[in-house]
Amino acid sequence: MSLRDLLLPENLNPLVRNTIFSGHILHWLEVESTNLLAAQAVAASRQTDHSPEGEVFLAEEQTAGRGRGNHAWYSERGAGIYCSVVLRPPITPADALWLSLIAGVAVQDAVKEVTGLHTDIRWPNDLLINEKKFCGILAEVSTEGNRVNHAVIGIGINVNHQAFPEDLRRVATSLRLETEREWSRVELTAALLKSLDREYRGLMRAVNHPVKTPAVQFAPILKRVEARSSYAHGKLVHVNEDGGYSGITDGLDPRGFLRVRTEQGLRMVISGSVRPLSRRSDAAGR
Ligand code: BTN
Repeated sequence: MSLRDLLLPENLNPLVRNTIFSGHILHWLEVESTNLLAAQAVAASRQTDHSPEGEVFLAEEQTAGRGRGNHAWYSERGAGIYCSVVLRPPITPADALWLSLIAGVAVQDAVKEVTGLHTDIRWPNDLLINEKKFCGILAEVSTEGNRVNHAVIGIGINVNHQAFPEDLRRVATSLRLETEREWSRVELTAALLKSLDREYRGLMRAVNHPVKTPAVQFAPILKRVEARSSYAHGKLVHVNEDGGYSGITDGLDPRGFLRVRTEQGLRMVISGSVRPLSRRSDAAGR
């Protein structure tokens, strides 16, 4: 880990001018979890009636990085990007899924811009290269009545990891392992914050659209997500929700949920995780 590639505010601020994150970057060497830190900061700021948006919490290492579904997030010191941002979108909890989806698109764009790599999005927001995961996103939303009070979007990117613990080796990868070279975490983080800013502004345009029908309002974002993900259409998957079921993906519904065509009819994945099935294993399983 070189000093120049520490995710320090002085390294990042000049690169993210004109974004909502500019001047709001905070950095730690070691924390339990940047999502936890962000949530604590929001709770503390509420007491002083100060409602910041765009604060960025970055750490070189997490000792208790959190993943979806109570999983841990492996957070090797200086090798990855462990980043949480605080957003305060004027949306209802029903629209919060869009935050996860735009974050996935933002990571994909940033990685493409810096490394040239084409990556895939596995609904809702796992980022994959050759079916192995290199980025996970944990969006934690706090609500007040029928409004989102704030959201903490936690993004973990495996950048310069050279190896993973035994239990992750089959499913995890890093940008370095895929390209056999190191990447600048500062450059990647700056690209990420810029693309997240761009996607978030797109979401705000959708939220402020004069027609308040989801099918119209969110159509541009929906199309964008669908176009970026091989999982959106025609993929044979297993869904670990409602006891588990299999089917073929059939696009996103107007609220962003993944549609899966099963033998029993069309189903909607609300929060379960989706894994690919090979056609052969499906045939053998029948
Ligand atoms: C997943 O399970 O795929 C989501 C992983 C999210 C990990 C990131 S790392 C930065 C932020 N802080 C956390 O504790 N988790 C998220």
